[in-house]
Amino acid sequence: MADDLSEIRSRVDLVDLVGRQVALKRAGKHWKGLCPFHEDSNPSFSVSQDVQRYRCWACGESGDVFTWVMKTQRVEFPEALRILADLAGVKLTHKREKREDLSDHRTIMRAAQEFFRQQLDIGAEAKSYCQNRGLDAETLVKWEIGYAPDAGDALGGFLKRKGIKLGEARDLFLVEQDSSGGYYDRFRGRLMFPIRDDRGELVAFGGRIIGDGIPKYINSSDTPLYRKSRVLYGFHQARDAIAKSGEAVLVEGYLDAIACHRADVANAVASLGTALSEEHAKLLKRWCKRVTVLYDADAAGEKAALRATEILGEVGLDVRVALMAEGEDPDTLLRGKGAAAVARAVAQGVFPIEFRLRSIDQKHTAAEPEYWTEVVDALSAIGNAMELDRYLVAMAKRYPGSVDQLSAQRALKSEVVRRRRQARMAPGPLDGPVVRPRVAAPAKYAPEEKAVFRALFDPALRPAAWRALGEDGLVYTPAAVAVQRELSQAFAQDAPIGSAGDWLAQVSDPDVAGQLADLSFEEDPTLSESWLADCLQRLRDARDRRERLRLAEAGLDQAEDAQLAALQARLRGRRDVRQADVRPTRDGSESDA
Ligand code: UTP
Ligand code: MN
Repeated sequence: MADDLSEIRSRVDLVDLVGRQVALKRAGKHWKGLCPFHEDSNPSFSVSQDVQRYRCWACGESGDVFTWVMKTQRVEFPEALRILADLAGVKLTHKREKREDLSDHRTIMRAAQEFFRQQLDIGAEAKSYCQNRGLDAETLVKWEIGYAPDAGDALGGFLKRKGIKLGEARDLFLVEQDSSGGYYDRFRGRLMFPIRDDRGELVAFGGRIIGDGIPKYINSSDTPLYRKSRVLYGFHQARDAIAKSGEAVLVEGYLDAIACHRADVANAVASLGTALSEEHAKLLKRWCKRVTVLYDADAAGEKAALRATEILGEVGLDVRVALMAEGEDPDTLLRGKGAAAVARAVAQGVFPIEFRLRSIDQKHTAAEPEYWTEVVDALSAIGNAMELDRYLVAMAKRYPGSVDQLSAQRALKSEVVRRRRQARMAPGPLDGPVVRPRVAAPAKYAPEEKAVFRALFDPALRPAAWRALGEDGLVYTPAAVAVQRELSQAFAQDAPIGSAGDWLAQVSDPDVAGQLADLSFEEDPTLSESWLADCLQRLRDARDRRERLRLAEAGLDQAEDAQLAALQARLRGRRDVRQADVRPTRDGSESDA
């Protein structure tokens, strides 16, 4: 594990990695750019090649290659490790077997994808179907759409010729075995939509029949690469737009997601007909605060949308529901009314409660008891008291006949309260906890201590600085003592050697590593051999002064103790006490003067 980490560190360059997302410019020893972690107007973000760390001087974010991946990809450490291992071509030791499997699987998926793409080029029927559905060449390329020909084993034959074992292709839902043991293709005569996970890894396929037929879509079931409750179609295409706007648009189908992107609603992803899962919601929550649900305007879509709003709300997302005319979906809306209509529907999304009340309105009139049962049900889900009052006032107006408004509101409210009690549905918090980045306060060292730590980053000065840090009591501020303790643990065997990035990586306390890395960003022209020697001398002098003071104080205490003892003894009437004669000496040792 430790070896894997250092192997990754040695193969991945942070400047290169950060440079893929942030335009970096060299500034002295370091690289500077606009900080990706906050709205940065002038470059506050530094990356050090030497130390392999980044630091924003405005918002306080800092870290190394691992935290960079964790923060920017919004993953936990094990996943960041996996991503970096992939990038570096490092095989993680403790998971070797499983990883080799995965990379085989990925090879097979890529081969299948290559095949489907080739087939679309030569499939006249599929191409004309795409044309009819308004899928232009650019769209076909962007979404990597392919075609599975209507033959028994076209894909199987292709894979076999590539030396791929069909048993493995079967695990990936590409081929299936018949009763005689032969393999046949799962997808036949279908337009193929590759499904990539949030990292852009190809994990599954969806296939739509050309024209009408049942089933309309066939989708990969869960495989070693794919868990459908975790993947949202189009997420990797939408990710940057979602992060940037803080919002996502959730649609039902492949072609709906594609339509949204064509309408410049670039933050759209699809739940693909399966029920939205909590994991889907959490994935979205990692990347944005608000989700607008844009499901088909039909009975099934409405029901699914209501359920989706609950799941999204439960993870603390701010939820809206976009409305369309009955029978529309984003794809038909784009083709019928144009891109602006899609964008407008999204922008005019309403709160889930509004959506629910509207749908009740469409099903029943206020004269029917069902109307009020459903309204009470809807209102009882409102967590905020003021908001509830607002809706009680609005809905009381709909009471049939001429009723006193206040009584109507009160009656409605008591029904809501009763329903809540029935459902034991205590209103939960409306928002999730707000997570703020932790800004590490700059550590407070004495200037001389700082010089010693800084000297560790200079290969010529390092040996002297390291030796000095081995002296007892040389550094004395609490921050510096903590750093010294951590360093002496990390380098109990050998002194720090190699590049700053190498040795700093061995410091396991992230706060200490961060504080040291901060020092390395400073360009300090005064740091030289003689300056270091001066600082060390001052630290030693100060240590000696502290020591003398301590001993003097200890001596005083001793003298006081002795006097006290003598006094007590006298009170007890004992006269043979000699401690009263003990006097402190300059060096603190006792002497019988
Ligand atoms: P729809 O029936 O609304 O299809 O199902 P669609 O996306 O609008 O497709 P077109 O425009 O008719 O071609 C929505 C989603 O539900 C899943 C698919 O992911 C589809 O995109 N679905 C639907 C299936 O998985 N299987 C089906 O048989 C039907
Ligand atoms: Mn649809």
